[in-house]
Amino acid sequence: MKAEAYERSHNRIVRHFAPECTLFLKTDGRFPLKAPCPVALFGSGARQTIRGGTGSGEVNSRASVSIERGLMKAGFTITSSPWLEAYAELLAAARKKWMARLRKDHPGIKGMMQAFGSIMPEPEYNLPLNYPGEAAIYVLSRISGEGSDRSCVKGDVCLTDTEVRDILALNARFDRFMLVLNTGGPVDLSPVRDVGNILLLSQLGAMTGLIFADILLGRANPGGKLATTWPAAATVDPVGDFGDPDKTHYREGIYVGYRYYDSTGIKPLWPFGFGLSYTSFSVAALETHVSGRLVSVLAKVSNTGSYAGKEVVQLYVSVPQGRLDQPYQSLAAFAKTPELAPGADCRVWLSFDMADLASYDTENEAWILEKGSYRLRLGNASDHTQVTADLILEETVTVRKAKTVLGDCGFKDWQPNIAQRAAALTLKGQAQPGPAPVSLTVPAAAFVTENVFYDREEDVDASVHDLTDEELCKLNIGAFSKGVLSFIGNASQRVAGAAGNFTRDLEKKGFPCLVTADGPAGLRLSRQYVDGKNGPETIGNDSLALFSDFLPGPARALTKLAMRRPGKGQVVHNQYCTMIPIGTALAQSFNTDGVAALGDLVGDEMERFHVDFWLAPALNIHRSILCGRNFEYYSEDPLVSGKMAAAITRGVQAHAGRAVTLKHFAANNQENNRYSSNSLVSERAMREIYLKGFGICVREARPRAVMTSYNLLNGRHTSEHKGLISDILRSEFGFEGIVMTDWIIHIAMDGGAYPPPDSVKIAAAGGDVVMPGSQQDFDNLLKGLKEGTISRSRLEKNATRMYRMAGILKNRK
Ligand code: BGC
Repeated sequence: MKAEAYERSHNRIVRHFAPECTLFLKTDGRFPLKAPCPVALFGSGARQTIRGGTGSGEVNSRASVSIERGLMKAGFTITSSPWLEAYAELLAAARKKWMARLRKDHPGIKGMMQAFGSIMPEPEYNLPLNYPGEAAIYVLSRISGEGSDRSCVKGDVCLTDTEVRDILALNARFDRFMLVLNTGGPVDLSPVRDVGNILLLSQLGAMTGLIFADILLGRANPGGKLATTWPAAATVDPVGDFGDPDKTHYREGIYVGYRYYDSTGIKPLWPFGFGLSYTSFSVAALETHVSGRLVSVLAKVSNTGSYAGKEVVQLYVSVPQGRLDQPYQSLAAFAKTPELAPGADCRVWLSFDMADLASYDTENEAWILEKGSYRLRLGNASDHTQVTADLILEETVTVRKAKTVLGDCGFKDWQPNIAQRAAALTLKGQAQPGPAPVSLTVPAAAFVTENVFYDREEDVDASVHDLTDEELCKLNIGAFSKGVLSFIGNASQRVAGAAGNFTRDLEKKGFPCLVTADGPAGLRLSRQYVDGKNGPETIGNDSLALFSDFLPGPARALTKLAMRRPGKGQVVHNQYCTMIPIGTALAQSFNTDGVAALGDLVGDEMERFHVDFWLAPALNIHRSILCGRNFEYYSEDPLVSGKMAAAITRGVQAHAGRAVTLKHFAANNQENNRYSSNSLVSERAMREIYLKGFGICVREARPRAVMTSYNLLNGRHTSEHKGLISDILRSEFGFEGIVMTDWIIHIAMDGGAYPPPDSVKIAAAGGDVVMPGSQQDFDNLLKGLKEGTISRSRLEKNATRMYRMAGILKNRK
């Protein structure tokens, strides 16, 4: 069936923008190709191109274009079809065997929940490569997803022996050879680093193959930069631990990603902010201004190569070492240029508020800027900058008073030792020479200490007073029904395939039933449905597809039988949604306007399909490259994460009555035992790294909802954490929306090292709604209310927020 006009137009927007999400790690000038020609195409991602990761971030679009098909559509002849055939067969057989073992090792529904998301490492194979072509392309793919982490084994983070052998052989045999990375995160490319052309294509949604063809032919120029450091396997997670099922110690504190590499002198394979394209640029600082707390740098960017392209200008600051230790540098601002023709130049301003460089002083419960010299570095990669100015702050200032509320992690954060810092400085000493930096004074008087008002009086809406105890509890618990769909992110009774909705029982009393649907790579809905007696019914397998592979044999057969086919005379409705690039790829664009335009596209589809809350953006920090859900998340850097989340929020919420849901709040940086793992993190690292992006997005774009995470933080469930929800999110960041939990699944959570979140404690902490909702959560809350472990007044205050949000969303103009 032909795509509808909105699908075509949305896919065009994605296709036009996505090259900006890609970048070359290596180029030797032998690409682009001038015209379609015969190519020898190999690799796991050539035919089985990965559009995005697995789990709730999946999108049911109408069709997808693989790299093989994309190239054929563009007029290329694929000479290696027998290889692609043979590989597909080999892969299917390997997967069948692997799945059977997985099901055997993880029996029952609980086993399914554990096995869900497990990723099969790429198999080794032996297939001839002797196909002709004017160029050869090897597409290396890796998938990852919800429920399972990556690991440094061959076929996952490390290359298989086959991949290394074939990539090196093709590189040696062909004059024009490109290694294409169809991965959501880094793979250790140490053994193939000498390959002349390495494109990080990433996972760009349903149009990935067409976008690649555009790049290969030079119709589009990669314009992205790494938003996360690209390490070798040997340097992954050197300090803190990762993946422990019960307790993960974030010992590295604030030294995450480039903050670690830059401060220790350890070189990754490619640094944060790095990226090449078909052209080259020069970046120079023209002026630096200080006006009160606001610092602005004017940069001149020139296209010095022979293709049109866009550049990402980056401004880093080295904060002086004082009482608080500081990383070598942190990103303070970035800007994307417009497209520049060869030889053209432009000027861009980069600005930041000095207060945003403040560090959290846990002992004194305050954000401070210590006196000293703040060094500004401008460039187009974190290792390619020039010192442009020293900003002198003559006195230490307290920017904001706060409260230390996140609990004790039980250790002192790691810091680089003197030798490591010295090694880092020696390495950095080799940075580019440039004109002498200017020295400017920032007046201490520009900073007036802000005070936060905690525990503000919250009012109660009159309409909430009249609710019975049962009704009040219903508002605080998502709509629940019996059956499997309620716990696998398919619980909505209003929109087919949406993740959930709030209660339906109070509509007559003016509380509309609001619908939530997943993201972040677009809207996750069922492709087709019919109107059933109790609401929409999915046609086909979309609602169970995520899980059915992992089910034991008989249950799998049942799900096939249960697949809904349209009855006689029933009208089939379509809900084809557009798949946009994964979060990591969006961040690589460093283009906030472009990302906002994709948010606009999602908002448009929310209107079309009657979805109120999008369960996105997801902005957890890439703490380790091993996190299985990193592809959904943006970056290792909180500024990039916050700015991207704010951009997409603006795009979605420009549609009246449509809301985003920032997730997962917070310190949700691993998937292993995700329902019951305890993240141990210091107050300073939480605030400067893991919460900062949420704060940026809340302040800049006023998102209407936040989802708490599954993990615990310093021994307490984040959904039950008053410090996180009420003190930091609401009082400090000024969040005015509603807080929902992640999808609590008792069947999977019971029996873990910690008891599952408790609906009474959630409501007491200021959480508004337990999702997707269950009879158990409801009974527990009602019991709490009757027995006095939660007050009616607390529930009324939470209900007031729900009521007012419903009013805002339903009053669509
Ligand atoms: C995921 C969330 C998602 C929810 C609803 C959970 O398992 O962690 O990101 O929004 O399911 O599908």
